[in-house]
Amino acid sequence: MKPLTSRQLKQLYLRFFKEKGHAIIPSASLVPENDPTVLFTTAGMHPLVPFLLGQPHPLGRRLANAQKCIRTQDIDEVGDETHTTFFEMMGNWSLGDYFKDEAIGMSHEFLLSKDWLDLDPERLSVTCFVGDGDAPKDEEAAGIWMKLGVPKERIAFLPKKDNWWGPAGSTGPCGPDTEMFYWTPNDIPAPKVFDPKDKRWVEIWNDVFLQYNKNKEGRYEPLRMRNVDTGLGLERVTMILQGKTNIFDIESFKPVIEKIVSLSGQGITEGNRRSFRIIADHMRAATFILGDEKGIAPSNVDQGYILRRYIRRCVRHGRLLGIEEDFCRDVAGIVIDIHKGDYPELEKNKQFVLTELDKEENRFKETLDAGIGFFNKIADGKRAVSGKDAFLLFQSHGFPVEMTKELMQEKGLQISASFDKEFDEEFQRHQELSRLATEKKFKSGLADTQMETIKLHTATHLLHAALKKVLGPDVNQKGSNITVERLRFDFSYDKKVTPEQLKQVEDMVNEAIRKKMTVIREEMTIEEAKAEGATALFAGKYGEKVSVYSAGDFSKEVCTGPHVGNTGELGHFRILKEESVAAGIRRIKAIVAPEPEQKYMSH
Ligand code: SER
Repeated sequence: MKPLTSRQLKQLYLRFFKEKGHAIIPSASLVPENDPTVLFTTAGMHPLVPFLLGQPHPLGRRLANAQKCIRTQDIDEVGDETHTTFFEMMGNWSLGDYFKDEAIGMSHEFLLSKDWLDLDPERLSVTCFVGDGDAPKDEEAAGIWMKLGVPKERIAFLPKKDNWWGPAGSTGPCGPDTEMFYWTPNDIPAPKVFDPKDKRWVEIWNDVFLQYNKNKEGRYEPLRMRNVDTGLGLERVTMILQGKTNIFDIESFKPVIEKIVSLSGQGITEGNRRSFRIIADHMRAATFILGDEKGIAPSNVDQGYILRRYIRRCVRHGRLLGIEEDFCRDVAGIVIDIHKGDYPELEKNKQFVLTELDKEENRFKETLDAGIGFFNKIADGKRAVSGKDAFLLFQSHGFPVEMTKELMQEKGLQISASFDKEFDEEFQRHQELSRLATEKKFKSGLADTQMETIKLHTATHLLHAALKKVLGPDVNQKGSNITVERLRFDFSYDKKVTPEQLKQVEDMVNEAIRKKMTVIREEMTIEEAKAEGATALFAGKYGEKVSVYSAGDFSKEVCTGPHVGNTGELGHFRILKEESVAAGIRRIKAIVAPEPEQKYMSH
């Protein structure tokens, strides 16, 4: 076992996979672009979905990286030994290249070989898929583990709920996985028989075998191109290498916790530990969201709402720890110092991060005491706290509904079955957007959703090109967001776009659609792409191969795709709205719809 820091572990992982022929790709943004199915990047595979669906990746069939991830669904578990909402995931992928044998072999070698992590084989267990009506028991994966020396008693077979990965309940690529667990206590020998329910066994790595496509009828069809998607939890493995039993003790978390301890002026006890951990995790998440290139700020919708929840929850837990002065910026400063080496955007956007934290902290502090007073009055009174009360707390005191629920739990109050419904009804009465809409889930299935979003993605390229032609070449993309219904495009331009110009842009895009231009993808270096006049938003590394998409001679852009094959597939393009979003930045919302019906005059 090697006592590595998390950065050293990261480098070692990438070196290992580089030696095994993998191209190292950068971490994508925390905020997925052009993907309406999730609010945040939840795994390294997320930005790679187009490639897992069959589009060739310009860097080849073997890829690896470290990816910053946020999993809001783990929020209630933060405070235990191993869960955080923000974490770094190390991943390696095979796009139709190696499969189970090699993937498991590499995981095993990296974990146990003396040349690499040199972990104790006596403390390793694995799970495999047990099989059901959709797919057989994964004897193949288990057999590979056994050949590598993992005893039968250390292999557990579990159902889909545990050992299956893919967009749950919808269509798209998916398959069984095999998960690796490590025995964390240093002073108790690992039991001979693996019990996956025993929390002392901690999951550290997951190898997913994407070998099926779930079709619209809900059947699992074997895929011709079989992919591997793996994810290793950087903080968890660092914890093991450093001989710790909780992740908040590793070197990249410790200074954050210590800062909170010094601000609170009190030591960590059984009773207050959870608050320290919640602040440490949520401040790290908030710092990374604010520090991302997308410029997300606290708000009441989408990513901005999650960010607001994180910050406000920190402020309340700070209050519980007796912290009176503003503290978010101090904690965020430490987070930035720890991670700026790997994520330079944190340093670059430091001012924005700190200013937004200050603003949100102060905004909430103004209403926090009154809100707590209001809550206590209801909670101590005779009647139950209702969803309607929660809405009042949200509306007048800025309490995210989850915070009210947390307060209720702390007081041991029941949350009634109709609580959420009452809140949502009240919310919808007051606002156009439902909170539920911010917790987006796969609804119509990955494949269907992809179809619609692919069209809008190609339309976005046409719009970008048309804007440059109409408003001038200095117009550049500042952000893009696509949902199943519409595209949203932010671009640099410092004046209002006139209705005449908008009409011109719209006509130009529709003309490009009417011409049924073929969309082609070429691979070239970033320099070649620029020399050919392609719009390249992101400066890649010198000599790096990129994909360039062209629609006839109308648009040419460096982009990871995917796109439709012909502009004729798009239907009619219509601009819904043009507005300002920030100084020098305009926003357009637009849709593509089937061609408007021909209207005939009746005589
Ligand atoms: N996508 C899989 C996971 O998140 C492997 O990375 O566990």
